[in-house]
Amino acid sequence: MEFTPFLDKELPEPLYNQLYHWIKKEIEGGRLLPGTKMPSIRQLTTHLKISRNTVEAAYQQLQSEGYLESVPKSGIWVAEIEKPPLHPIVVEQPIRLESEPTSHNFVDFEYGNVDLDKFPLKKWKKCLSDAVDQENNWLFQYSEKQGEFALRQEISNYLLQSRGVRSTPDQIIITAGTQASIALICQLLDLQGEFVAMEEPGYSGVRSVLEDHKCHIEPVPLEKDGLSVEHLLTSSSHAVYVTPSHQFPIGMVLPITKRMQLLKWAYQSEGYIIEDDYDSEFRYLGQPIPSLKSLDEEERVIYLGTFSKSFLPSVRLSYIVFPTSLIAQYSQKFAAYNQSVSPIIQRAMVLFMQSGEFERHVRRMRKLYQKKHQALLKSIEQYIGPQVEVVVEKSGLHILLKLKGITAIELIERALKKGVRVYSPVRFWLNPTPDCHSYILLGFGGLSVEEIEEGIKLLASCLEGIEEV
Ligand SMILES: Cc1ncc(COP(=O)(O)O)c(C=O)c1O
Repeated sequence: MEFTPFLDKELPEPLYNQLYHWIKKEIEGGRLLPGTKMPSIRQLTTHLKISRNTVEAAYQQLQSEGYLESVPKSGIWVAEIEKPPLHPIVVEQPIRLESEPTSHNFVDFEYGNVDLDKFPLKKWKKCLSDAVDQENNWLFQYSEKQGEFALRQEISNYLLQSRGVRSTPDQIIITAGTQASIALICQLLDLQGEFVAMEEPGYSGVRSVLEDHKCHIEPVPLEKDGLSVEHLLTSSSHAVYVTPSHQFPIGMVLPITKRMQLLKWAYQSEGYIIEDDYDSEFRYLGQPIPSLKSLDEEERVIYLGTFSKSFLPSVRLSYIVFPTSLIAQYSQKFAAYNQSVSPIIQRAMVLFMQSGEFERHVRRMRKLYQKKHQALLKSIEQYIGPQVEVVVEKSGLHILLKLKGITAIELIERALKKGVRVYSPVRFWLNPTPDCHSYILLGFGGLSVEEIEEGIKLLASCLEGIEEV
């Protein structure tokens, strides 16, 4: 068997990941060609002297990303892939099959989409045009380094009202997306070579940035009510990245007791909590819990926000609220850096916020997403029933389903044939176990109520005849 990856048990990277990366590289490098039959799981287990679970997990990940295809009664084959980009970006794509319906008929439960039908496009266009028309020299200049003061002022007001976060514009830095925020924090806190804890599973977009900054990720398991603080206490990390308002991707809300324990950990260890409040605007049930930042009395919380969910992902507008104690350090360390978000976009957002339109938009969207969320849950109950379990469902723009008797990959394949795209969240686990392959992530922000119902009906038809296990 000419198939001998070098797997090193001494490395911190799990064997599953090493095997996955090796095969992926071979495929992308053209050394494993489409149509090549892969060794069976049993053969590879024996050949490499590793566990069946390791091979299974690597194969499943490669299948969910479309690199491998499993053909019943035939085996596992290298799939036809489009020529990868020079620096391949791992985007979880459902496997494409020849018989799939044309893309415009698809009901696509992709996460990250927002509602465009009710988007106040006219008003936004007016703000963009007014921003450019404003007679001022600023149009010919760079933005202030931390971002436009007026925008930071608006954000500061907004956060006080909506999240109880007290801040001055001086503490706020405008960034071009959450990943840019994380990269900046890595530089500021000198996290290179340091241990950084994050929820397991957690947002892979952030994990990639931390890894690229040579941080050692310490995955902290989740309990029913979120991050295991007990586990964090035994870790070597002095920084933790968390999504307390709506754990990504599972969905639970971190209760107040755990928030206090987390703060205590930060105070005692002089650690930092990086709080990502990415979709806190969209909460549909239960009492809102104050943000960690609003509870922080010792300046240990770095707060991250984004306009990607509350407004549009395409504006690439997000922000960091730093404790005042870090601002001097920031100014010193980043003195030579220019602001990377266009001042035109920032000014347009200022006008949009000053007119009260942003708050109106958020209120309208909250109602609309709540309607979609209810329609989704109702359709699941009506058409699918106990064949799936809805994991946590109180807020946000996505939900997770736990499947019974079928894996995510099998369901993705079946659903594609019927014209529905659903996604496996497996990439959000640093160390996925076989159980992680029984989840499906459904984003619903960009779909209409009718599309949601239609999509779930079709998904239900894919589950017919599946025995619950
Ligand atoms: C946990 C989490 N944080 C932040 C974001 C938004 O990132 P950005 O601000 O780069 O659009 C997302 C989007 O998917 C997310 O899932």
